[in-house]
Amino acid sequence: MTVSQMPKVELHLHHEGAAPPEFIRMLAAEKKVDISGIFDERGGYKYKDFWDFLKVYEVATSVLQTPEDFARLTAAVLEESAAAGVIYSETFLSPDFCGGRDIGAWREYLAAIREAADAAEAAHGIVLRGIVTCIRHFGLEMARETALCAADTAGDWIVGFGLAGDERAGLPKDFAWSFDCAREAGLRLTAHSGEWGGAESVRAALDDLGVERIGHGVQAIDDLALVDRIAEDGIVLEVCPGSNVVLGVYPDWRSHPIHQLRERGVKVTVSTDDPPFFHTTMVNEYNRLSEAFDWDEGVFNEIAHTSLGAAFCNDVTKATLKKRLETT
Ligand code: ADE
Ligand code: ZN
Repeated sequence: MTVSQMPKVELHLHHEGAAPPEFIRMLAAEKKVDISGIFDERGGYKYKDFWDFLKVYEVATSVLQTPEDFARLTAAVLEESAAAGVIYSETFLSPDFCGGRDIGAWREYLAAIREAADAAEAAHGIVLRGIVTCIRHFGLEMARETALCAADTAGDWIVGFGLAGDERAGLPKDFAWSFDCAREAGLRLTAHSGEWGGAESVRAALDDLGVERIGHGVQAIDDLALVDRIAEDGIVLEVCPGSNVVLGVYPDWRSHPIHQLRERGVKVTVSTDDPPFFHTTMVNEYNRLSEAFDWDEGVFNEIAHTSLGAAFCNDVTKATLKKRLETT
């Protein structure tokens, strides 16, 4: 089996960020909105740097206006993921984009997304679960409302709570109320940290939010005592190497610390983040990692098991997926 055919588990995917540009253009045309400025001459998303990326992301997302739009998005995203061999995916969903954090509206968006996910599971065998995610640069009040939406819908499908957005906006401890609220509702916790912020930002997410996974976390590499703590405590890093290279966190694949982190005993996993924005897929991530670090099937198999072990879904779902990892 080639690495591209291997069954994969993806823990870090932004739902809107996975929207193919053609899909967003189609919705823009249907709704007669002009968002042509966010595309380059070849039709891909155009942005200058991470902060511009966040703006382009919000413009693209602005054409996703109804539960039905999110249902169609879900179908498109899961078809792509399944084609890359993904059997289980956790996606970041933000009530900010799904009904403006109104709980009734959020429930309707979520119902539409789940219905589309059920259809994709029947058609392609891919299992999806959701992580409600607040957006750091939208501020604390919106994060609180997001946490209330998360708590309201926590269960076997909404399984986690997270924090994304501009890591320079505020500190992890500012979001402690929201994370406490989500934890009390039974949700598992993750936060983007150590993507643009340094090791101290990762330490703060661990200390102040009590997360068990970190989105990215790669900048922990600059503090080996922290790396050792992450390894010892079994904290899982949702590493998105292609995203980091395209956004310029690291100049090329060989400079990326994922290999070093793994060698030092950290539980690393591999995800695409916002695949069409970064011209990547799970197959591309696997192929590039295998070229850069000589990773073989054995390494990727271990990573798939680590990812499934760190997944936020229930044990019954995990056991079924584990069999698929072992028999494919
Ligand atoms: N939202 C979408 N992609 C993101 C990323 N890579 N970092 C932070 N927030 C995001
Ligand atoms: Zn991300």
